[in-house]
Amino acid sequence: MAQPLIGRVALVSGSGRNIGAAIAKRLGAEGAEVFVTDLEQSRAETIAGEIREAGGKAHPLVFDVTDPKGWTDAIAEVEKRCKHLDILVNNAGLVISKSFEDTDLDEWHRIMRVNLDAPFLGVKAALSLMRESAKRTPFGGSIVNMSSVSGIVGTPLLAAYTTSKAGVRYFSKSIAIDFAKKGYRLRVNSVHPGLIETDSSALLFQERVRSGIAKDIEDAKAGMVANYPLGRMGHVSDVAGGVLYLASDDSAYVTGTELIIDGGMSAQ
Ligand SMILES: NC(=O)c1ccc[n+]([C@@H]2O[C@H](COP(=O)([O-])OP(=O)(O)OC[C@H]3O[C@@H](n4cnc5c(N)ncnc54)[C@H](O)[C@@H]3O)[C@@H](O)[C@H]2O)c1
Repeated sequence: MAQPLIGRVALVSGSGRNIGAAIAKRLGAEGAEVFVTDLEQSRAETIAGEIREAGGKAHPLVFDVTDPKGWTDAIAEVEKRCKHLDILVNNAGLVISKSFEDTDLDEWHRIMRVNLDAPFLGVKAALSLMRESAKRTPFGGSIVNMSSVSGIVGTPLLAAYTTSKAGVRYFSKSIAIDFAKKGYRLRVNSVHPGLIETDSSALLFQERVRSGIAKDIEDAKAGMVANYPLGRMGHVSDVAGGVLYLASDDSAYVTGTELIIDGGMSAQ
C-alpha cells in the first residue's frame, strides 16, 4: 500500500521519547520526512537514527519549546533543509502531579509555559511556512496539538495540568475556525489521550502513593485503570495512530475537533 505521507515534512516537538517518539516513528514509517525535536539532544538523535535505520528520513533538532527564538530558529532550519512544513505536532508536555495546596505559582506558570504557551509559539513560528507549503498538497497542512483527557474532565492532583490542557483544546478550536475561514488550508485538531504507559504516567502513580491515595504503585495503577472501560492502560502506538489520521489526508474534512483516545474513560 502507498505510504500516505510521502513527500510531506513533519515536525514533532518533544519526540525524544514515549508518545512523541511513537508519533515521529509512525509518521516516518508512513513516508514523512520528520524533524525529531526535543530538549535532550541524545534523545532526539536516537529517535531520528531509529527512523533512518527503518528506511525513513529524519533529522534531530534541539530546542526548548518555551523559547520563541528556539522555535523561529527551528522553523528556519526546516525551511533551509526541506523548503516545506506540512505537519506540526505540538506534543512536548510537562506533568506535575500535586495537590492544590502543594502547587505553587512557579509550578503553575511552568506547566502553562510548556503545555500552553509552547503550542502558541509553535503555531506562530510555523504559520507562514505552513501556509505556503499548504498550496502544494491536495488538502493543505495539519496542526495537531497534544491535549489530554484531563483537558476535558477535571482530575484531582492535576489542577494546573488540567487547566493547561483545557486551554490547548480551546486554542486548537479557535485557530481551526480562524484559519479555515481565512482560507489558509491548514486544519487544526487536538488529541486527548487517557492513561498511557509512559514515564509521566509513572509519576502519577508515585504521587498517589505519596499522598496516601494508594498503598503502593500496583495499587495506584489498578485504581486508575479501574476507571477505563477497556480495562488497560493505553500504548503509545494507540496515540500515534490517532495523530497519523489527523496528519494525513484521510482527515481532510476534520478541523477543530478533539480526538479522544482514552479507552472509553470520558464516555461514562
Ligand atoms: N503519558 C500519558 O499518560 C499522557 C496522557 C495524556 C496526555 N499526554 C500528553 O502527551 C504528551 C507526551 O507525553 P509523554 O508521556 O510522552 O511525555 P514524556 O515526559 O515522556 O516526554 C515528553 C518529551 O518532551 C520533552 N520536553 C519536555 N519539555 C520540553 C521543552 N520545554 N522543550 C522541548 N522538549 C521538551 C522531554 O524531553 C521529553 O522527551 C504531553 O503533552 C503529555 O501531556 C500524556
